[in-house]
Amino acid sequence: MPCSPAAWRTWRRSRCVKAFWRPSAIAGRSAETYDVRRMTEIFDARRHWDGIYSTTQIEQTGWYEAEPTVSLELVEHCGLDLDARIADIGSGNSTLIPALLDRGYRNLVAVDISGVALDALRQRLGDMAQYVDFVRDDMTDPQELDAIEPVSLWHDRAMLHFLTGTEERDRYRAAIRALVDPAGHAILGEFADDGAEECSGLPVVRFNEAALDRALGHPFRREEVVRYTYVQPSGGLRPYVYARYRHRR
Ligand SMILES: C[S@@+](CC[C@H](N)C(=O)[O-])C[C@H]1O[C@@H](n2cnc3c(N)ncnc32)[C@H](O)[C@@H]1O
Repeated sequence: MPCSPAAWRTWRRSRCVKAFWRPSAIAGRSAETYDVRRMTEIFDARRHWDGIYSTTQIEQTGWYEAEPTVSLELVEHCGLDLDARIADIGSGNSTLIPALLDRGYRNLVAVDISGVALDALRQRLGDMAQYVDFVRDDMTDPQELDAIEPVSLWHDRAMLHFLTGTEERDRYRAAIRALVDPAGHAILGEFADDGAEECSGLPVVRFNEAALDRALGHPFRREEVVRYTYVQPSGGLRPYVYARYRHRR
Protein backbone atom coordinates (compact mmCIF):
# COMPACT_ATOMS: atom_id res chain seq x y z
CA MET A 1 0.00 0.00 0.00
CA PRO A 2 1.30 3.54 -0.71
CA CYS A 3 2.30 5.55 2.35
CA SER A 4 2.53 9.21 1.19
CA PRO A 5 -0.64 11.22 0.20
CA ALA A 6 0.64 11.73 -3.35
CA ALA A 7 1.45 8.04 -3.81
CA TRP A 8 -1.95 7.16 -2.34
CA ARG A 9 -3.76 9.39 -4.89
CA THR A 10 -1.81 7.83 -7.76
CA TRP A 11 -2.55 4.31 -6.53
CA ARG A 12 -6.27 5.06 -6.08
CA ARG A 13 -6.51 6.64 -9.55
CA SER A 14 -4.82 3.61 -11.13
CA ARG A 15 -7.35 1.26 -9.48
CA CYS A 16 -10.21 3.45 -10.70
CA VAL A 17 -8.89 3.40 -14.24
CA LYS A 18 -8.61 -0.38 -14.17
CA ALA A 19 -12.14 -0.78 -12.85
CA PHE A 20 -13.64 1.45 -15.50
CA TRP A 21 -11.47 0.12 -18.28
CA ARG A 22 -12.57 -3.49 -17.71
CA PRO A 23 -15.77 -3.81 -19.80
CA SER A 24 -17.12 -6.66 -17.66
CA ALA A 25 -17.16 -4.26 -14.70
CA ILE A 26 -20.01 -2.30 -16.28
CA ALA A 27 -21.42 -4.47 -19.04
CA GLY A 28 -25.03 -5.48 -18.78
CA ARG A 29 -26.07 -2.74 -16.37
CA SER A 30 -29.13 -0.72 -17.26
CA ALA A 31 -28.42 2.28 -19.47
CA GLU A 32 -30.79 4.39 -17.40
CA THR A 33 -29.11 3.77 -14.08
CA TYR A 34 -25.44 3.64 -14.95
CA ASP A 35 -23.49 6.46 -16.52
CA VAL A 36 -19.99 5.59 -17.63
CA ARG A 37 -18.80 9.07 -18.49
CA ARG A 38 -15.71 8.50 -16.34
CA MET A 39 -14.78 5.70 -18.67
CA THR A 40 -15.07 7.94 -21.74
CA GLU A 41 -12.67 10.38 -20.07
CA ILE A 42 -9.92 7.80 -20.14
CA PHE A 43 -10.89 5.91 -23.27
CA ASP A 44 -9.89 7.28 -26.68
CA ALA A 45 -12.63 5.92 -28.93
CA ARG A 46 -11.17 7.30 -32.14
CA ARG A 47 -7.85 5.59 -31.47
CA HIS A 48 -9.61 2.35 -30.62
CA TRP A 49 -11.60 2.27 -33.86
CA ASP A 50 -8.76 3.50 -36.08
CA GLY A 51 -6.67 0.71 -34.55
CA ILE A 52 -9.31 -1.92 -35.32
CA TYR A 53 -9.70 -0.79 -38.92
CA SER A 54 -5.92 -0.52 -39.42
CA THR A 55 -5.20 -4.03 -38.21
CA THR A 56 -8.26 -6.16 -39.08
CA GLN A 57 -9.58 -7.25 -42.45
CA ILE A 58 -13.15 -6.04 -42.71
CA GLU A 59 -14.33 -9.61 -43.44
CA GLN A 60 -12.82 -10.73 -40.11
CA THR A 61 -14.61 -8.19 -37.91
CA GLY A 62 -17.34 -9.45 -35.62
CA TRP A 63 -20.00 -7.39 -37.39
CA TYR A 64 -19.19 -8.04 -41.07
CA GLU A 65 -22.14 -8.89 -43.30
CA ALA A 66 -21.51 -9.93 -46.90
CA GLU A 67 -25.07 -8.82 -47.58
CA PRO A 68 -26.75 -6.51 -45.01
CA THR A 69 -30.07 -8.27 -45.57
CA VAL A 70 -32.19 -6.87 -42.74
CA SER A 71 -31.01 -3.29 -43.28
CA LEU A 72 -31.72 -3.48 -47.01
CA GLU A 73 -35.18 -4.93 -46.42
CA LEU A 74 -36.04 -2.15 -43.97
CA VAL A 75 -34.65 0.55 -46.28
CA GLU A 76 -36.84 -0.82 -49.05
CA HIS A 77 -39.89 -0.61 -46.75
CA CYS A 78 -39.28 3.14 -46.36
CA GLY A 79 -40.27 3.52 -50.03
CA LEU A 80 -37.70 6.24 -50.75
CA ASP A 81 -36.82 7.74 -54.12
CA LEU A 82 -33.35 6.88 -55.39
CA ASP A 83 -32.21 10.49 -54.86
CA ALA A 84 -33.36 10.53 -51.22
CA ARG A 85 -30.57 11.46 -48.83
CA ILE A 86 -29.60 8.51 -46.61
CA ALA A 87 -27.14 8.71 -43.71
CA ASP A 88 -25.44 5.59 -42.32
CA ILE A 89 -24.35 6.46 -38.79
CA GLY A 90 -21.32 4.48 -37.65
CA SER A 91 -20.98 3.17 -41.18
CA GLY A 92 -17.38 2.08 -40.74
CA ASN A 93 -16.27 0.29 -43.90
CA SER A 94 -19.58 -1.55 -44.08
CA THR A 95 -21.27 -3.24 -47.00
CA LEU A 96 -24.47 -1.20 -46.69
CA ILE A 97 -23.23 1.85 -48.60
CA PRO A 98 -21.98 -0.23 -51.57
CA ALA A 99 -25.23 -2.24 -51.52
CA LEU A 100 -27.32 0.95 -51.62
CA LEU A 101 -25.23 2.27 -54.51
CA ASP A 102 -25.79 -1.05 -56.33
CA ARG A 103 -29.53 -0.50 -55.92
CA GLY A 104 -29.31 2.95 -57.49
CA TYR A 105 -29.31 5.26 -54.44
CA ARG A 106 -27.19 8.29 -55.26
CA ASN A 107 -27.27 10.63 -52.27
CA LEU A 108 -25.55 8.94 -49.34
CA VAL A 109 -23.73 10.05 -46.22
CA ALA A 110 -21.26 7.84 -44.30
CA VAL A 111 -20.62 9.01 -40.73
CA ASP A 112 -18.01 7.43 -38.48
CA ILE A 113 -15.54 8.27 -35.73
CA SER A 114 -12.81 6.43 -37.62
CA GLY A 115 -11.11 8.27 -40.46
CA VAL A 116 -9.29 5.02 -41.28
CA ALA A 117 -12.63 3.24 -41.86
CA LEU A 118 -13.99 6.09 -43.98
CA ASP A 119 -10.81 6.22 -46.10
CA ALA A 120 -11.04 2.45 -46.66
CA LEU A 121 -14.69 2.77 -47.68
CA ARG A 122 -13.89 5.64 -50.05
CA GLN A 123 -11.14 3.60 -51.68
CA ARG A 124 -13.33 0.53 -51.99
CA LEU A 125 -16.03 2.55 -53.76
CA GLY A 126 -13.72 4.00 -56.41
CA ASP A 127 -15.68 6.27 -58.78
CA MET A 128 -18.92 5.60 -56.93
CA ALA A 129 -17.52 7.55 -53.95
CA GLN A 130 -18.74 10.68 -55.74
CA TYR A 131 -22.26 9.82 -54.52
CA VAL A 132 -21.22 9.66 -50.87
CA ASP A 133 -20.41 12.41 -48.36
CA PHE A 134 -17.88 11.20 -45.79
CA VAL A 135 -18.24 12.77 -42.36
CA ARG A 136 -15.85 12.00 -39.53
CA ASP A 137 -17.65 12.74 -36.30
CA ASP A 138 -17.95 11.41 -32.77
CA MET A 139 -21.57 10.58 -32.02
CA THR A 140 -20.97 10.94 -28.28
CA ASP A 141 -20.81 14.68 -28.99
CA PRO A 142 -21.42 15.33 -32.70
CA GLN A 143 -19.96 18.57 -34.07
CA GLU A 144 -19.97 18.07 -37.85
CA LEU A 145 -23.51 16.82 -38.42
CA ASP A 146 -24.99 20.30 -37.90
CA ALA A 147 -23.32 21.43 -41.08
CA ILE A 148 -24.82 18.81 -43.39
CA GLU A 149 -28.13 18.88 -45.24
CA PRO A 150 -31.12 17.11 -43.69
CA VAL A 151 -31.60 13.44 -44.52
CA SER A 152 -34.68 11.37 -45.39
CA LEU A 153 -33.32 8.28 -43.65
CA TRP A 154 -31.05 7.78 -40.65
CA HIS A 155 -29.65 4.23 -40.49
CA ASP A 156 -27.59 2.93 -37.56
CA ARG A 157 -26.51 -0.67 -37.16
CA ALA A 158 -24.37 -1.39 -34.11
CA MET A 159 -23.28 2.17 -33.29
CA LEU A 160 -25.87 3.47 -30.83
CA HIS A 161 -25.25 0.54 -28.51
CA PHE A 162 -21.80 1.96 -27.69
CA LEU A 163 -23.38 5.08 -26.18
CA THR A 164 -23.49 3.86 -22.61
CA GLY A 165 -23.92 7.28 -20.98
CA THR A 166 -27.32 8.97 -20.67
CA GLU A 167 -25.92 12.34 -21.77
CA GLU A 168 -24.40 10.75 -24.88
CA ARG A 169 -27.73 9.23 -25.80
CA ASP A 170 -29.43 12.60 -25.19
CA ARG A 171 -27.02 14.19 -27.68
CA TYR A 172 -27.68 11.36 -30.15
CA ARG A 173 -31.43 11.98 -29.83
CA ALA A 174 -30.90 15.72 -30.41
CA ALA A 175 -28.78 15.00 -33.50
CA ILE A 176 -31.33 12.69 -35.08
CA ARG A 177 -34.14 15.17 -34.44
CA ALA A 178 -32.12 17.95 -36.03
CA LEU A 179 -30.98 15.96 -39.07
CA VAL A 180 -33.98 13.87 -40.15
CA ASP A 181 -36.43 15.85 -42.25
CA PRO A 182 -40.07 16.11 -41.10
CA ALA A 183 -41.24 13.34 -43.43
CA GLY A 184 -38.19 11.20 -42.77
CA HIS A 185 -37.42 7.72 -41.46
CA ALA A 186 -35.01 6.06 -39.04
CA ILE A 187 -33.73 2.49 -38.79
CA LEU A 188 -31.89 1.28 -35.70
CA GLY A 189 -30.35 -2.19 -35.39
CA GLU A 190 -28.59 -2.78 -32.05
CA PHE A 191 -27.66 -5.64 -29.72
CA ALA A 192 -30.87 -7.08 -28.29
CA ASP A 193 -31.74 -7.48 -24.63
CA ASP A 194 -30.86 -11.19 -24.86
CA GLY A 195 -27.65 -10.40 -26.74
CA ALA A 196 -23.97 -9.94 -25.98
CA GLU A 197 -22.74 -7.51 -23.35
CA GLU A 198 -19.68 -6.40 -25.30
CA CYS A 199 -18.88 -5.55 -28.90
CA SER A 200 -15.34 -5.03 -30.16
CA GLY A 201 -14.18 -5.48 -26.55
CA LEU A 202 -16.30 -2.53 -25.37
CA PRO A 203 -19.34 -2.54 -23.10
CA VAL A 204 -22.67 -1.96 -24.80
CA VAL A 205 -26.21 -1.01 -23.89
CA ARG A 206 -28.66 -3.72 -24.91
CA PHE A 207 -32.05 -2.80 -26.33
CA ASN A 208 -35.58 -4.04 -26.55
CA GLU A 209 -38.26 -2.31 -28.62
CA ALA A 210 -39.23 0.13 -25.85
CA ALA A 211 -35.60 1.12 -25.23
CA LEU A 212 -35.13 1.83 -28.95
CA ASP A 213 -38.28 3.99 -28.84
CA ARG A 214 -36.83 5.92 -25.91
CA ALA A 215 -33.54 6.44 -27.76
CA LEU A 216 -35.37 8.35 -30.49
CA GLY A 217 -38.16 9.93 -28.47
CA HIS A 218 -41.65 11.08 -29.24
CA PRO A 219 -41.19 12.56 -32.76
CA PHE A 220 -40.68 9.05 -34.15
CA ARG A 221 -43.38 6.40 -34.46
CA ARG A 222 -42.26 2.75 -34.62
CA GLU A 223 -43.63 0.99 -37.72
CA GLU A 224 -41.80 -2.34 -37.78
CA VAL A 225 -39.56 -4.56 -35.67
CA VAL A 226 -37.26 -7.38 -36.73
CA ARG A 227 -35.48 -9.68 -34.27
CA TYR A 228 -32.52 -11.23 -36.02
CA THR A 229 -29.62 -13.39 -34.90
CA TYR A 230 -26.50 -12.49 -36.82
CA VAL A 231 -23.84 -15.20 -37.19
CA GLN A 232 -20.33 -13.78 -36.89
CA PRO A 233 -17.50 -14.91 -39.19
CA SER A 234 -16.20 -16.84 -36.13
CA GLY A 235 -19.57 -18.62 -35.76
CA GLY A 236 -20.66 -16.64 -32.67
CA LEU A 237 -24.33 -15.73 -32.39
CA ARG A 238 -25.31 -12.09 -31.91
CA PRO A 239 -29.02 -11.39 -31.41
CA TYR A 240 -30.01 -7.96 -32.74
CA VAL A 241 -33.23 -6.00 -32.55
CA TYR A 242 -34.01 -3.73 -35.50
CA ALA A 243 -36.79 -1.17 -35.65
CA ARG A 244 -37.99 1.10 -38.44
CA TYR A 245 -39.47 4.48 -37.53
CA ARG A 246 -41.35 7.24 -39.28
CA HIS A 247 -41.06 10.88 -38.24
CA ARG A 248 -44.43 12.17 -37.00
CA ARG A 249 -45.28 15.24 -39.04
C1 LIG B 1 -19.70 -2.60 -34.72
S1 LIG B 1 -19.20 -1.44 -35.93
C2 LIG B 1 -20.59 -1.44 -37.06
C3 LIG B 1 -20.22 -0.92 -38.43
C4 LIG B 1 -21.37 -0.88 -39.42
N1 LIG B 1 -22.46 -0.08 -38.96
C5 LIG B 1 -21.85 -2.28 -39.73
O1 LIG B 1 -22.95 -2.62 -39.36
O2 LIG B 1 -21.09 -3.01 -40.36
C6 LIG B 1 -19.42 0.09 -35.07
C7 LIG B 1 -19.03 1.30 -35.87
O3 LIG B 1 -19.38 2.47 -35.12
C8 LIG B 1 -18.29 3.38 -35.14
N2 LIG B 1 -18.35 4.15 -33.90
C9 LIG B 1 -18.16 3.69 -32.64
N3 LIG B 1 -18.30 4.69 -31.76
C10 LIG B 1 -18.60 5.79 -32.48
C11 LIG B 1 -18.85 7.15 -32.13
N4 LIG B 1 -18.80 7.56 -30.87
N5 LIG B 1 -19.14 8.02 -33.12
C12 LIG B 1 -19.17 7.61 -34.42
N6 LIG B 1 -18.93 6.35 -34.81
C13 LIG B 1 -18.63 5.45 -33.85
C14 LIG B 1 -17.05 2.51 -35.26
O4 LIG B 1 -15.95 3.19 -35.79
C15 LIG B 1 -17.54 1.39 -36.15
O5 LIG B 1 -17.33 1.68 -37.50
